[in-house]
Amino acid sequence: MLKSILASTRWKTISKAYSSAITTIAMEQQPVTKQKLSGYDFFRSIGSPKHIVAPMVDQSEHAWRILSRRYNSHLCFTPMFHARLFSDPDNGHKYRQEQWSTDNEDRPLVVQFCANDPQILLRAAKLVENDCDAVDLNLGCPQHIARKGKYGSYLQDEWDLIKEMVSLLHRELAIPVTVKIRVFPTLERTLEYAKMIEAAGAQMLTVHGRLREQKGHNTGLADWDKIKAVKEALKIPVIANGNILYYEDVQRCLEHTGCDGVMSAEGNLYNPAIFTPRDMPPAVWEMAQEYLDICKTNPTRVSVMKAHLFKLLQPSLPVHTDLRTELAKAGSLDTLVSIVDRLKERLQKDQEDIGEEELNGASDENGIRKYGHWRCQPYFRPTLPSDHGKAKGEQRKREKEEALKAQPVPTLDENDHVDKKQRQNDEETACC
Ligand SMILES: Cc1cc2nc3c(=O)[nH]c(=O)nc-3n(C[C@H](O)[C@H](O)[C@H](O)COP(=O)(O)O)c2cc1C
Repeated sequence: MLKSILASTRWKTISKAYSSAITTIAMEQQPVTKQKLSGYDFFRSIGSPKHIVAPMVDQSEHAWRILSRRYNSHLCFTPMFHARLFSDPDNGHKYRQEQWSTDNEDRPLVVQFCANDPQILLRAAKLVENDCDAVDLNLGCPQHIARKGKYGSYLQDEWDLIKEMVSLLHRELAIPVTVKIRVFPTLERTLEYAKMIEAAGAQMLTVHGRLREQKGHNTGLADWDKIKAVKEALKIPVIANGNILYYEDVQRCLEHTGCDGVMSAEGNLYNPAIFTPRDMPPAVWEMAQEYLDICKTNPTRVSVMKAHLFKLLQPSLPVHTDLRTELAKAGSLDTLVSIVDRLKERLQKDQEDIGEEELNGASDENGIRKYGHWRCQPYFRPTLPSDHGKAKGEQRKREKEEALKAQPVPTLDENDHVDKKQRQNDEETACC
C-alpha cells in the first residue's frame, strides 16, 4: 500500500516537472495490470481479516458495511446478487442501481453472486472486478427460492458445473474467486467437496458448518469439527461460519477450528459491535441512531432499514409494542429516526429504573447472557415442541373461540401480525 502511494506521488511530481508531451504519453499508456494473487498472498494483501461480515441478502448493504467496519469488522461481503439479473443487458442497470453500491472506503470487499451458468457468472463478475477484492460464489443458500432457481446449496451435487464456474472465474477474472459452502452429512463427502473447489481455483473458502436441511426451526448448531477438518485438508485460507453469538465465541471458534477468520451473520445483525471487545454490548438506540445517520448520506431502501431496526431493537420491542407497531408502518427515514429517538428516551428511563446489577451479562445454564432489554443481544429462535406446535395451536384456537364468544372483535392484533411477518422474514432469510 505504502509502496503504491509512494509510487503514485513520485509519478505526480515527475509529470508536473516535465512537459505536457510526457503527460500525454503517460495518459496513453495502459494501466499496469495488477498481479493476481492467490491463496495466502491474496489473504495477506487484504490484511489477513479475522472478523468477517457475512453476505446477507438485503442486510449487508453499503450502509451496514460502513457501520460494521467502524466496529472492528475487517472484511465485508455484499449481499448475494443474482448473476443473471445483475448483468442482464437490458435491465441489469436497474437491478444494480437498486442493490449495489460501494465507494473507495468500502474495502476490503467481496462481492457475492449466485449463479448456475459459468458465462453469466463471469459476465456479472466482470462488472465488479475493479470495485472489490474478490468475487464469491454462493453454494450455501438452502431457501425455497434457491431450489426453484437452482442455485446456492441446490448445486452441491453438481460438481462439474461448480468446477466450470469456479475455474472460469479463476482463469478470466483479474481478481480471485472465493466460494461459500455448507457441509455434507458425512465428513468424507465434505472434504472431497472442499478439495474439489480448491482444485478448481478457489482462493478462499468459507464453510458454514450446517447442512442444507438446517434452516428455520431446524437451524440447530453448526459443526465446528467439520470446519476444522476442512481447514486441515486445504492449503487456501478457510473461514469458519456458524455459532457466533458473542465476542468471546470468535476466539473460541478460531482456536477450535484453526481457521483463518470467523464470519458472522445473525450475531452481527443483532449487535454490529460483536467483533469489538467491551464490558457490555452497546445500547440498541446507539447502534440504531448511528446506522440511520449513515443512511442519511448513503441512501438505503426503507425496507432494508426497517429490517435492520427490527433486529437491532429486537430486545426492546416486546416491551414498547406501540413503537413496534409504528416501526412496522413506517415509510421514511425521518419516521424511523423519530421512532428511535422516542425509544431511546424510554429505554434510558428503563435502564435507570431497572439498573444493571443483575442484568450484567452473566451466563445462564445454557450459556445465554442476561442483559437489559436496552442492550444489543442475540435472538434465540424458539425451537418447535415435539408435536410441532399442534397442542399449542389447538389451545390457542380454543382460547380464541372463548374470546370471540366473550367479545366479538378480532383477537389477532397488529402486533401479532408484525411478529408473524417478522418471524416469517427471519425464517426465509436466515441461514441462506
Ligand atoms: C438475513 C440473512 C441473509 C442472508 N443472506 C445470505 C446471502 O446473501 N448469501 C449467503 O451466502 N448467505 C446468506 N445468509 C447466511 C449467512 O451468511 C450465514 O451463512 C448464516 O446465517 C450462518 O451464520 P450465523 O450463524 O453467523 O448467522 C444470510 C443470513 C441471514 C441471517
